[in-house]
Amino acid sequence: MDFIDPKTQYQRYKPDIDRRIQAVLDYGQYILGPEMVELEAALARYVGIKHCLTVASGTDSLEIASRALGIGPGDEVITVPFTWISSTEVIFLIGARPVFVDI
Ligand SMILES: Cc1ncc(COP(=O)(O)O)c(C=O)c1O
Repeated sequence: MDFIDPKTQYQRYKPDIDRRIQAVLDYGQYILGPEMVELEAALARYVGIKHCLTVASGTDSLEIASRALGIGPGDEVITVPFTWISSTEVIFLIGARPVFVDI
């Protein structure tokens, strides 16, 4: 079962995606470039908040959000076992203890 269909999504937006990727390749700044600033501003507008911070991965976002909430050693985090391993990995990484609940 396919949960997502990136190929169809790509075909729908192919000209825009290809043009933007080519622009990045042409000037060669792959990290922290103007596209990132533009994306963060667009996402913030879309969600209706002042600021948006993009990160490299879903795992990074979970760690940053958990640390921002002050979760750490001595804390328990309730999560489900039926998900991607990052959810539990990050809980261990920040020194907390996962507590699994049945979904
Ligand atoms: C529910 C869930 N959390 C976290 C992640 C981790 O994302 P990443 O692989 O970008 O670190 C994934 C990745 O598939 C996910 O499905």
